[in-house]
Amino acid sequence: MVSAVCFANRRHDTILCERDLEKAEFIRTGRPPFFEPNLEGLLRKTIDTGKLQVSTRINNAVLNSWITFVAVGTPSKSDGSIDLTSIETSSAEIGESLRGKEGYHLVVIRSTVTPGTTENLVKPTIEKQSGKKAGEDFGLAMQPEFLREGSAIEDTLSPDRIVIGEYDKRSGDVLHRLYLDFYKDESPPILRMNLASAEMVKYASNAFLTTKISFINQVANLCEKVKAVDIVKVADAIGLDERIGRKFLNAGVGFGGSCLGKDLRAFISFSRLLGYTPDIFEAVLDFNEKQARHVVDLAEGELGCLKGRVIAVLGLSFKPNTDDVRDSPSIRIINELLKEGASLVVYDPRAIENARLILGENVRYADSALECLSDTDCCIVATEWGEFRRLSPQDFSERMRKPLLIDGRRIFDPEVYGKNLRYIAVGLGPSR
Ligand code: UDX
Repeated sequence: MVSAVCFANRRHDTILCERDLEKAEFIRTGRPPFFEPNLEGLLRKTIDTGKLQVSTRINNAVLNSWITFVAVGTPSKSDGSIDLTSIETSSAEIGESLRGKEGYHLVVIRSTVTPGTTENLVKPTIEKQSGKKAGEDFGLAMQPEFLREGSAIEDTLSPDRIVIGEYDKRSGDVLHRLYLDFYKDESPPILRMNLASAEMVKYASNAFLTTKISFINQVANLCEKVKAVDIVKVADAIGLDERIGRKFLNAGVGFGGSCLGKDLRAFISFSRLLGYTPDIFEAVLDFNEKQARHVVDLAEGELGCLKGRVIAVLGLSFKPNTDDVRDSPSIRIINELLKEGASLVVYDPRAIENARLILGENVRYADSALECLSDTDCCIVATEWGEFRRLSPQDFSERMRKPLLIDGRRIFDPEVYGKNLRYIAVGLGPSR
């Protein structure tokens, strides 16, 4: 969706193919089916200019274009391995459509797929259904997607790099030219390699990012045991080492979202299939699952038994600026608290509707952060939304029964909040 809107916004005639009729209708009328900053404005603009069309039929999209980007979902199976059903069915339909098409067509896989998938599944499926040959009648490339939710448009318009995995030189050249034209004088580095290396880049990038997060969370948990040590100061200092870098060293409640955990699980399962035990990735994933429990332990350390305690949780989405709650650490924390018998009041600026589908009536939903705090025994900040940063110590102390604030995302200054409240934070050692 974001790629299509960005291509159309740079005056490429673009057809967005969405099989879900309801979603397609939403998009056609300028309404994105999910929240993403700046997307709605850009979508409306591209629809008004006629540069973006929405179709529900792959055949129509393939016959009326010369490059097809495949961005279907690759969810996890119950054993963590990757489910390639949508890749296979869309490849088959693209193949069928190509059977009746004259001239060259390039197929680019953007979905995250395990190394070897484009060559061993996509290529033979398209070849079988089309009766054509990859590298001769049609081109094949794999370009991993690195955009982040919440800054998807910005990331698409100025990415750190473009990675092109190519089946043959012509396929790579066509895609390379498209991006040189798209980015003009502001082209990011464009790296070219074979299909499987490009597929590997995506998993290795995400695995590294998760390793960085679990690493800093482990140091943070250790900081909590040492008097007056603060992970934020530690991360700032180690992050200035250019070999390390400050990004992705924000300690907290763990990582979540639709990609990082799913991709790490798929990477682990892929490694094991090859007879290799990926100890680091497994440790990163296990540790991340435990970090939600760690935050609950912090609450228990202060309050004792949580049964019957009223706890406010601020933030439900897996990160700010999105309504996405998939694999959200906040939901993991809430489930742990419910197991302990706590009563929960929750609030999120955007994600309540999606969270309700998971949490149902097991929690109470507040209409604002301030309302969420009323008459509670403890507040846990699980997502670092901008509006939470503006809450003052008085906002907590005046409304809560017992003003205990657990800062799971390190958004408050311990010097200020620690003076006025019982303030506990991930990665903050005891003051005395
Ligand atoms: C991620 C990758 O960054 C992106 O390249 C890939 O294409 C998709 O997956 P996204 O899931 O949108 O993007 O979010 P990201 O910003 O990476 O954050 C993921 C999770 O890690 C969030 O839960 C976030 O809170 C957490 N995180 C991130 C930390 O806990 N600490 C950090 O320092 C950074």
